[in-house]
Amino acid sequence: MATVIDGKAVAQTIRSEITDEVRLLSEKYGKVPGLAVVIVGNRQDSESYVRTKRKACADLGIKNFDIDLPEQISEAEVIKHVHQLNADPNVHGILVQLPLPKHINEEKVLTEISLEKDVDGFHPLNIGKLAMKGRDPLFVPCTPKACLELLSRSGVSIKGKRAVVVGRSNIVGLPVSLLLLKADATVTIAHSHTSQPEDIIREADIVIAAAGQAKMIKGSWIKPGAAVIDVGTNSVDDPTRKAGYRLVGDVDFEEASKVAGWITPVPGGVGPMTVTMLLKNTLESAKRSIE
Ligand code: GUN
Repeated sequence: MATVIDGKAVAQTIRSEITDEVRLLSEKYGKVPGLAVVIVGNRQDSESYVRTKRKACADLGIKNFDIDLPEQISEAEVIKHVHQLNADPNVHGILVQLPLPKHINEEKVLTEISLEKDVDGFHPLNIGKLAMKGRDPLFVPCTPKACLELLSRSGVSIKGKRAVVVGRSNIVGLPVSLLLLKADATVTIAHSHTSQPEDIIREADIVIAAAGQAKMIKGSWIKPGAAVIDVGTNSVDDPTRKAGYRLVGDVDFEEASKVAGWITPVPGGVGPMTVTMLLKNTLESAKRSIE
């Protein structure tokens, strides 16, 4: 049976380290780390993510700057808000929740975020540096950083290993592939046009599942002893639950946990770590601002 990686517990440990550092920063330098979370429109999933991020900030003593904008706002207006946040010395991190409404060009908005405040790590220049050998981005995107942190804290080595990433999104699949490559893994990306992904996944010492397909990765696809990090958060109907649904990953946990060496559960795996990495990036940015 696999070791189940407890993301909630690891996140808790890191959060208490961050809380101590936030307190120290404020006592020693009078500086309170500040994070601006910008949300455009009323998507339910985005609102729920944003609530979680804002609450986590408040819990750790990081100051929130809430920017809630209407769905119909123009691209120019959103960019104006970003510029104001760029200029505000109390704001150390700026996060624009994605996806943005269709009439707003995501790349244009993300490119306007000051590189020094890009705690999501989505600025094209930060992603570009992530892709290049010998260059380091100012910030690494939070979910990919969470995946690698979970591997390293579980004692899973990456160097020279075969890693398969399932999914190629800008937010997870692509940047986690680049991060694994930087850590000297041999990386393959499987995606919706990959035929028989199971043949590739069976070769993997490390599997990062970020396809957004409930339980698509079966236990029989996993190499015995592999480390499996499940980024999927798919909601499936469950009439036995009060909410009427429950969250499941991209991996069939019940099957895969019998074969894998390590596995993250959903919920309670990558999710709590992602937000923690955002808080860590915000603290880091505040620390850099006093150097
Ligand atoms: N939408 C889904 N995940 C994320 C994320 O990590 N950051 C932002 N900004 N938007 C998202």
